Amino acid sequence: MMKKNNIGIYIHIPFCESRCQYCDFCSSIISEENSKKYFKYLEKEIDLYREVLNKKIIDTIFIGGGTPSSVDEKYIGNIFKKLKEFEISKGAEISIESNPNSLSLQKLKAYKSFGINRISMGAQSFNDEILKDIGRVHTKNQILEAVKNVKEAGFKNFNLDLMLALPHQNLKDIEESIEEIEKINPTHISYYSLILEEKTELYKRYRKNNKAFADEYTDRNMYHYVVKSLEKLGLKQYEISNFAKDGYECRHNLKYWKLCDYISFGLSSSSNILNTRYTNFSNFSKYYKALDQNKKPIEFKENLSKKDRLNEFIIMGIRLNSGIDVEEINERFNIDFEKKYEKAINKNINIGLLEKSERNYKLTEFGRDLSNAVELDFFM
Ligand SMILES: C[S@@+](CC[C@H](N)C(=O)[O-])C[C@H]1O[C@@H](n2cnc3c(N)ncnc32)[C@H](O)[C@@H]1O
Ligand code: SF4
Repeated sequence: MMKKNNIGIYIHIPFCESRCQYCDFCSSIISEENSKKYFKYLEKEIDLYREVLNKKIIDTIFIGGGTPSSVDEKYIGNIFKKLKEFEISKGAEISIESNPNSLSLQKLKAYKSFGINRISMGAQSFNDEILKDIGRVHTKNQILEAVKNVKEAGFKNFNLDLMLALPHQNLKDIEESIEEIEKINPTHISYYSLILEEKTELYKRYRKNNKAFADEYTDRNMYHYVVKSLEKLGLKQYEISNFAKDGYECRHNLKYWKLCDYISFGLSSSSNILNTRYTNFSNFSKYYKALDQNKKPIEFKENLSKKDRLNEFIIMGIRLNSGIDVEEINERFNIDFEKKYEKAINKNINIGLLEKSERNYKLTEFGRDLSNAVELDFFM
């Protein structure tokens, strides 16, 4: 019998209760009518991949968005019915993203019955004024209520998303967030530095008047405080923005960072199979039209060269605390990493941005603040 390879599955749910001021992810305001239609087409898309999926063992599933918790749980249940037609490994990591205001106990119990075993919740901040200012539709109390529900429903593995360098945010606010995290005791934290995406409301505000926004120095100060404080809570940094208790690193995201294969379904999502990246339409009508014609809703396909993949592998690898494993990269790309990148390695070690530990090259603490500059030196 043919040996089956492992694969990760991502499913994009492009609906939210409202749009946050900083976000440019592919999502629109939820309506029952649109979600009903979308989920019908999602199942159709999965069916078109039957042949590929029959040859794989699914070992991670990530239902992301948008806000998957904004839709009726019966639709999420239907997706799982469909996915269970394929082989899912026994210990698969199965995550769903959520927002506190739509994460009821009833929904969580339903998620549990579908086999979901990891909840990721967007908190962003525990300060009601900041939450309101960035357009979140929940309060700190709703975050705490949702966390209570997560625990009551019996989920041990859960992540909170938080953000740094939000307008009017200062170190005191971050200290308060860390205190809340200590009380909540999650297994995973993603702490993202705000990226001012063009076309977002926050970008417009910044262009008009940037006084409320942290400068680079304050941003880094907050970041260092977060890294040190989370470490004390046993949430060890394993990627620039990600922290986990031992054994709770997100296996699905590690697949992205390690350039493993994954198949994604839904609007705007991208798949990676061998050295090809497939990206779906991000427009509802085009996505539906392709599926009506029984075609995969792929907008573009990129064949990535060895050079592209190597660049990606280095950029992703260097952001991981484990760094780049010399033997792994040499074997995977048939190169002599230390010879090929001798100049970049020596330069960055000499200025204290890079270090070698056993057979891995990784950023130093200082290097993590200047990761973009290091990446540029390795870019070929
Ligand atoms: C796309 S959201 C999906 C999950 C859910 N809807 C939520 O709001 O948490 C995933 C996370 O991305 C982060 N995020 C979104 N836009 C960002 C930006 N411009 N800069 C930094 N982080 C951002 C937020 O922390 C958010 O929780
Ligand atoms: S941050 Fe989450 S809730 Fe807010 S618009 Fe983006 S996807 Fe939707």
